[in-house]
Amino acid sequence: MEILILPTPADVGRAAAGVIAAVVANRPEAVIGLATGSSPQGIYRDLARRVDAGEIAFERARGFALDEYVGIPQEHPQSYASIIARDVVEPLGFDPSLVQVPDGRASDLDLAARQYQAAILAAGGIDIQILGIGTNGHIGFNEPTSSFASRTRIKTLALRTREDNARFFATPDEVPTHCLTQGLGTILDARALVLVAQGEQKADAIAAAVEGPVSAFVPASALQLHEHATIVVDEAAASRLRLTDYYRYTYDNKPKWQRTH
Ligand code: F6R
Repeated sequence: MEILILPTPADVGRAAAGVIAAVVANRPEAVIGLATGSSPQGIYRDLARRVDAGEIAFERARGFALDEYVGIPQEHPQSYASIIARDVVEPLGFDPSLVQVPDGRASDLDLAARQYQAAILAAGGIDIQILGIGTNGHIGFNEPTSSFASRTRIKTLALRTREDNARFFATPDEVPTHCLTQGLGTILDARALVLVAQGEQKADAIAAAVEGPVSAFVPASALQLHEHATIVVDEAAASRLRLTDYYRYTYDNKPKWQRTH
């Protein structure tokens, strides 16, 4: 794993956007896995800036959202379909017909999940997957004890996740109890992963994921099994890592030709 520790949340967004921009510059029809929540907002803002500056274009890129709540209407402002449309498709200029979100309103959720998984495969797999991390170490909505072999499926949200996400809803009870999420196996199938985290509230999860044992109890520790995972954190999210000197030294001595940020 490459661990990048940067001074501010804005630096995190810019650096992670650089990783994604390099993939798209090399392959304009790249397949991008799209996370929602607060963490990737800086990435999308920086990518939108690059689009506006004419540095990069997403019109041929494909997108697959990481997850979706079950049971809220698509047009709900907090559905991930709405958020992806608002924060990603529009500002980055994706072709909406090339971006998919799991169908959390499907009458047969199991079938919808399998079809979503099949659609990712049919698109040739994900070139780069954007990830945030939950305070309990989840990625996507793969809550602790999710199987490393799991593919897109229905999951029950952990109570901690529902509490963390209550800030997006009028009342805590409004937070859905279930979701469809790409599995840990789906995420590990992506050709590259970039995980971002900002703030002290993510420090324990980052330390456990990066330096703890590989364990289904900390789903993000699955990244240790991936050959091309970049983890970009600010100082606060890095504050419980032990090998920070090594990560900084590695980054400072990274050959120019390898740099995207
Ligand atoms: C969102 C997702 C989640 C979030 C995580 C962190 O699509 O899959 O794993 O990345 O819950 O959420 P924020 O970024 O809001 O702290």
